[in-house]
Amino acid sequence: MKMWPFLLLLVALLLSTTATLPSEALNVRGHLLKSKTFLSPAIFLRPSSISNKIYFDVAFPIGHIALKSFDAEVVDEHGVPVPLHETYLHHWVVEPYYIPKGTDVAETKLSKIILRRNSGVCKTTLGQYYGLGSETRHTATWVPDPYGIEVGDPVAPPEGHEEKWLLNVHAIDTRGAVDKLGCTECRCDLYNVTMDEYGRRIGEDYIGGLRCCYDQTQCKVKEGFADGEVRKMFLRYTVTWLDWNDAVLPVKIYIFDVTDRALLEGKSEPSCKIEYQVEECSSEDQAKNDCVHVQVAKQILPRGGDIVFGVAHQHSGGIGASLHGEDGRLLCESMATYGEGQEAGNEAGYIVGMSTCYPKPGTVTVSDGEALTVVSNYSSERQHTGVMGLFYILVAEHEQQQQQQQQVRTVSWLLSNL
Ligand SMILES: *[C@@H]1O[C@H](CO)[C@@H](O)[C@H](O)[C@H]1NC(C)=O
Ligand SMILES: *[C@@H]1O[C@H](CO)[C@@H](O)[C@H](O)[C@H]1NC(C)=O
Repeated sequence: MKMWPFLLLLVALLLSTTATLPSEALNVRGHLLKSKTFLSPAIFLRPSSISNKIYFDVAFPIGHIALKSFDAEVVDEHGVPVPLHETYLHHWVVEPYYIPKGTDVAETKLSKIILRRNSGVCKTTLGQYYGLGSETRHTATWVPDPYGIEVGDPVAPPEGHEEKWLLNVHAIDTRGAVDKLGCTECRCDLYNVTMDEYGRRIGEDYIGGLRCCYDQTQCKVKEGFADGEVRKMFLRYTVTWLDWNDAVLPVKIYIFDVTDRALLEGKSEPSCKIEYQVEECSSEDQAKNDCVHVQVAKQILPRGGDIVFGVAHQHSGGIGASLHGEDGRLLCESMATYGEGQEAGNEAGYIVGMSTCYPKPGTVTVSDGEALTVVSNYSSERQHTGVMGLFYILVAEHEQQQQQQQQVRTVSWLLSNL
């Protein structure tokens, strides 16, 4: 029994270096969670006008933390939720960035800002950590235990920089709109624009999308509404997190975009266009009740692991989307739910939620460099412009999980041999 003192020492060492292992680690209790609700800067909208602004240095939890959820909705100045048929939430996105310490975005050049993008897979767009649209009220963002999105690590920013957060909110007021759906689909004819926000001419073949509904544009409004009341609104968001500790397993964020044709066309660099158009189906298909537009893309997942969460993002008309492995196996399916009434969170005709996937860890595995297929279905009973088909997944890499499991196994082996 000479081993005893040595083993005890080893156990003590292991327990002290791995703080909260193992019981709390694998079952993160409510009391460890922190949660806080914030308001975005005020958003002002006239009837049928657009606000699409980027807010830098928004309120966000401070410190080295594991994000567990990010829930948001649009509220008026009294904190009352605003329904989508009055203010349509086209999208919001949040993303961390690095900025030289002590400087302010207002007084620094935007070129000094380093975006801290997610792990892929588009190169220059869709770098957000979280982002949703009209579905935000009923779409889960919860990162299952024992996983978390690691942010605020003090050693992560480049020398002399600090981490801050930006928020982009694209809201479309449709009070008094001549064509509410057309306005939310950014149909160019309704916005009476010929140039996009960068002064580039919009061609005749571009019928609708973000190039026509930029900040400060105005959608066609019914008589008597044009000078209507300016409404003051906010994006109210609640962040839930844990202080970072060794028990939390980090996950990587990937966003797939169904508009990326690069791989299918034999090109290596991704080409994410974000939006696409759904044409109205033929009268033959109408007669057969077969009006589903299916858009497909393949994109490469750089690093594999376990998928622990998945959700799609679509616009009105969306039916659902799915993500598949290289051999065609289903990784996650996310279906749209529509509202049935008038009240906020249940608006008829709008997507008010997307279903999510929470695979049991280890059951849905993807490998390094695997070519994944995204499928996005829309109803084509009518034309839809500026639609999206994004797939957001969280991946826990095996290496990191093994490291932790090894620690857990060592501790339990030692304990059972004492
Ligand atoms: C559309 O734009 C043109 C030129 O920019 C302007 O003269 C016209 O009044 C606008 N029409 C409406 C309905 O706002
Ligand atoms: C998309 O449509 C195709 C063809 O109708 C169907 O096989 C598939 O199950 C649909 N997927 C989703 C996620 O709706």
